[in-house]
Amino acid sequence: MAHITDLVRAASVVASQTELTSILEAVVETGMELTGAPFGALGVLGEDGSLIQFVHRGLPDGMVERIGHPPEGRGLLGAITWTDQPLRLDRVSDHPEAAGFPSAHPSMESFLGVSIRIGDQVFGNLYLGGKDGGFTDRDEALIESLAVIAGTAISTIRVQGRLRRAAVLEDRQRIARDLHDSIIQDLFAVGLTLQMLGAKTEDEELRRSIKEAADQLDASIAALRRFIFDLRPPVWGTRDLKQELSELLGRLAVPYDASVAIGVTGPVEDLPAELVEAVVQVVREAASNALRHARSDLVSVSISRGVDRLLVTVTDHGIGFDVDTTPRGMGLENIRSRAEAAGGEAEIVSKPGEGTTVRVVLPV
Ligand SMILES: Nc1ncnc2c1ncn2[C@@H]1O[C@H](COP(=O)(O)OP(=O)(O)O)[C@@H](O)[C@H]1O
Ligand SMILES: [Mg+2]
Repeated sequence: MAHITDLVRAASVVASQTELTSILEAVVETGMELTGAPFGALGVLGEDGSLIQFVHRGLPDGMVERIGHPPEGRGLLGAITWTDQPLRLDRVSDHPEAAGFPSAHPSMESFLGVSIRIGDQVFGNLYLGGKDGGFTDRDEALIESLAVIAGTAISTIRVQGRLRRAAVLEDRQRIARDLHDSIIQDLFAVGLTLQMLGAKTEDEELRRSIKEAADQLDASIAALRRFIFDLRPPVWGTRDLKQELSELLGRLAVPYDASVAIGVTGPVEDLPAELVEAVVQVVREAASNALRHARSDLVSVSISRGVDRLLVTVTDHGIGFDVDTTPRGMGLENIRSRAEAAGGEAEIVSKPGEGTTVRVVLPV
């Protein structure tokens, strides 16, 4: 049975990936291979159901840029998300909810889509399209199983991530405790011994060198204490993103006529300090660009906390600019390098006359 060997191979390809993005890519590629579809994509959903990551294969070069934005999770995609049944169509246009295909979308006559779940949580949607003659019962069964494999692989990688973090945290705490309980105590004891020796001796010169040694020891103990302090688990350093953004944007907007709106979905009160720092930097650059260059009367900043990533967008409806030909300054470069340094990605979409959106996805 080709069926089972195909799936076993798919499972091992998907399960051998060690990064979430590679899993997503392997799932899309495997889905295309299993069914012979020329086009495949996978959308990852945030907690509020909005699309926060989009992986695709088989779209002609430049198509994504021409469409301008990934699917918004309405229409067909929305229809798949909320059911655990696959959706199979010979002609996409037959479906009552297929309202949302942009005109530049490749012709995708046939369609097969399924939601990817982890337990009862919807992680995203896998969809395939454009297969000549339409998808078959066998394709549908394969893709349903692939979605289960994908869900399992994704939840495994998440658990591994959590365990790794827990292990690092525990290690740091253990080292800090060890340093404190044994090494510092021992150094104290040595210091006391030195003091006693110094008090006993009649030799002035010896007493002076003992005193020097004791002082050095004190300095080392102080340095160790600082080191232990730095070893405290990173979760102790959290910052309130929403509050910091309100303050920042309030300050930035003062000299301008534009209003600035902030929308936040999901919990962002206790994010790691480094992550908050990255978001604040990105928003500072993008919002000041919008205020300085865009001539828009509204700048919107939105933060959406997904299961394990954070989506940050800064949008204006101002004059826009040509991303390909406008010389990049430090600002746009900073946005990109900040996002990448934090393990994420930045995307800048702008159309002259329509406005600009800076979109950054960061892992949490
Ligand atoms: N939101 C925006 N609206 C219009 N133009 C923008 C916007 N953001 C950036 N630009 C254009 O891109 C250029 C580069 O931006 P940036 O790298 O931040 O450098 P700088 O702001 O120092 O000029 C800007 O000079 C401007 O022409
Ligand atoms: Mg700038």
